[in-house]
Amino acid sequence: MDRNDQDTSVKVAVRIRPQNAKEQVDMCRVCTFVTPGEPQVVLGRDKAFTYDYVFDTGTEQVQLYTSCVEKLVEGCFSGLNATVLAYGQTGSGKTYTMGTGFDVTVLPDEQGVVPRAVHHLFNGINSRIQDAIKEKRDPPQFDVSAQFLELYNEEIIDLFDPSRDTSNSKRLKIHETHEGVIYVDGAVVQSVKSESETLDALKRGALSRTVGSTNMNAQSSRSHAIFTISVSQKRPVLQSTDASDSAGSQDWETLTAKFHFVDLAGSERLKRTGATGERAKEGISINCGLSRLWARTAKEQLQKELRVVKEKTR
Ligand SMILES: Nc1ncnc2c1ncn2[C@@H]1O[C@H](COP(=O)(O)OP(=O)(O)OP(=O)(O)O)[C@@H](O)[C@H]1O
Ligand SMILES: [Mg+2]
Repeated sequence: MDRNDQDTSVKVAVRIRPQNAKEQVDMCRVCTFVTPGEPQVVLGRDKAFTYDYVFDTGTEQVQLYTSCVEKLVEGCFSGLNATVLAYGQTGSGKTYTMGTGFDVTVLPDEQGVVPRAVHHLFNGINSRIQDAIKEKRDPPQFDVSAQFLELYNEEIIDLFDPSRDTSNSKRLKIHETHEGVIYVDGAVVQSVKSESETLDALKRGALSRTVGSTNMNAQSSRSHAIFTISVSQKRPVLQSTDASDSAGSQDWETLTAKFHFVDLAGSERLKRTGATGERAKEGISINCGLSRLWARTAKEQLQKELRVVKEKTR
């Protein structure tokens, strides 16, 4: 993607995780170098790659959140949709960065993107309501709901459905409307009223997520997980200063926004993960899903570039 194109809707951030204990014991060499002041990573001697953001090994969770996710969450209040998608090799730090593992021992500083975004969202909601009350305006009304799905071995599992592990569990199917909106029929959409309620729901779902141990990650995600927050905001329309317009009753507008957080399972080589049996079957399914996603993204990107070329040559 052309990095000078300010209208671009896709931004790529690369995060390099610090070496783990095993890599240190094995005296593995760090083969990445981040060019100071540039979003550029150099591999080996001279292979330089430039992205929208590059975060080196010392990057803290808060830095990553404020640099590239905060403004997307703020966009929800203006009715803008967004997706944050973590993609990478197994053990590279996707679940850690997204904060979807919900390890109970995680310190506040180590919280990932999702809990930070939920905090930011409810803070934003409360401050908008409080500001309106202080200024004696009609406060906006918010409806927030959440959905948590995993794609495991080609099957969609609803992590909010209490009957998912029983024989009563529903088989979920993906549908697409005429307008190209993708939705999953029959999945639980849970209404949430506060930060703690949302995080509790998310934690319950995360604990049921399929995780397994491989040689490359003791807590490897064996499924792709999608956590979606939908925000509906009904707010008073600002009145015109024209006296003749202000005589009528208050008009209201409704803005809706969807935020998807996607923590993909990592691409893996069976030889390196040492996976056999069920783990190997999962690994094959994960790799198939990722290559389809990659093919689709590449196709969309190509179509977009072709459109730009056609418009420029017109
Ligand atoms: N930036 C980081 N700082 C410290 N520890 C990290 C960092 N990134 C990842 N880790 C640690 O590395 C290990 C692997 O990370 P994680 O489980 O997030 O990988 P993953 O990309 O989700 O892998 P998989 O695709 O197998 O699910 C975890 O123990 C995690 O705590
Ligand atoms: Mg993971």
